[in-house]
Amino acid sequence: MKRRRNGGSKHILMLKGKHIVLGISGGIAAYKSVFLLRLLVKEGAEVQVVITPNGKEFITPVTLSALSQHPVVCDFFTANTGEWHSHVSLGLWADLMVIAPATASTMAKMVTGVADNMLVTTYLSAKEHVMVAPAMDLDMWAHPSTQRNIEQLRRDGVEIVMPGSGELASGLSGKGRMAEPEEIVSRIKEYFSRSCDMEGMKVLITAGPTCERIDPVRYIGNYSSGKMGFAIAEECASRGAEVTLVAGPVSLSTVNPSIHRVDVESAVEMCEAARKAFANADVAVFAAAVADYRPAETAESKIKRENADEMTIRMVRNPDIAALCGKMKRAGQTTVGFALETDNERINAAHKLEKKNLDMVVMNSLRDKGAGFRTDTNKITIFAREGSVTEFPLKSKSEVARDIVDAMLRFRGNVDAECER
Ligand code: C5P
Repeated sequence: MKRRRNGGSKHILMLKGKHIVLGISGGIAAYKSVFLLRLLVKEGAEVQVVITPNGKEFITPVTLSALSQHPVVCDFFTANTGEWHSHVSLGLWADLMVIAPATASTMAKMVTGVADNMLVTTYLSAKEHVMVAPAMDLDMWAHPSTQRNIEQLRRDGVEIVMPGSGELASGLSGKGRMAEPEEIVSRIKEYFSRSCDMEGMKVLITAGPTCERIDPVRYIGNYSSGKMGFAIAEECASRGAEVTLVAGPVSLSTVNPSIHRVDVESAVEMCEAARKAFANADVAVFAAAVADYRPAETAESKIKRENADEMTIRMVRNPDIAALCGKMKRAGQTTVGFALETDNERINAAHKLEKKNLDMVVMNSLRDKGAGFRTDTNKITIFAREGSVTEFPLKSKSEVARDIVDAMLRFRGNVDAECER
């Protein structure tokens, strides 16, 4: 009988040709990074290890260079030759940077930009996606400073592979154990399959509040921060889409340089910009909190206080941007609306699908703690045109953005499959 190698099954190298910078900082979980490195190399990735001086205390560069087949980078210079190691070229080379373990101190430096070692310097030069797997003792993990830094890293577009709970090196038990290497590898694979699944797609996103002028110093606005719409814009851009983000007045900036941002103030301005972009869009997400009405007249100079106890501002209806685009919608275009409700959530969401000719409605309720305006988290339920209702748990807005985009792509996939039948 002939023996077949590998039991006859052909393993597909999911990470073949991918350039990965593996950053290792100084924590006991660094021993797990050896397994992580081994798994990445086995999947066909080319891995360049960057280690902090403390990291070297936990694990030797010889082990890492033997497994990666590349010299390990730690110092800015090689002392005896005077050779300079370029963090810039490493940052440009990387298709992905993974920092595992990421200590509390490394994450604090990433947040503040204290680039006093090769690892943080390379992070600041990295052009592509960055993932961190934090590892530390439970009290360090729970400390408000660490939690603040995690939040800020998320806002900066860094993906967090959350630590698990269990026995820690200190002998204590709790949250802080670095995710297992297999979990990190599966997140890396997910990232690469996600990173191009919107290539060639044009996406329009409206975000933030609108401000409706009363006079030169006053306006009617709302509490929308724009965080949800901005997170969706980042998610789509990171997956290869061409994004036009029409934003009302917000104090947010975009991270991905490929996002085309159009800043507007009022609903009428937002409507004009959105309709223009919608003509060429494959997908539109209406995440903005658009004022339903605007003052019928805007005073040219500041309205003076009168002696009267009351004042009335006459208001006129604003255009419904989602509904107008819904009317213009042609085959192949997908539209997603939001429904922020305080009661009768499900009935209202279903009604909006119909009324605005939407394909999906993302509903959040002000009754849910952590959902809605100004928070960094959200809890959503997605209603799709074909009748499905999917509830999600409370998550960070960047994770919610991923769920929304995944659902949207699944919806489009189903529609395409229907058309082919
Ligand atoms: O009808 P309601 O305001 O609750 O609908 C919310 C959805 O419609 C959101 O997706 C919002 O962005 C969109 N909308 C809009 N233009 C308006 C009002 C709402 O695009 N004038």
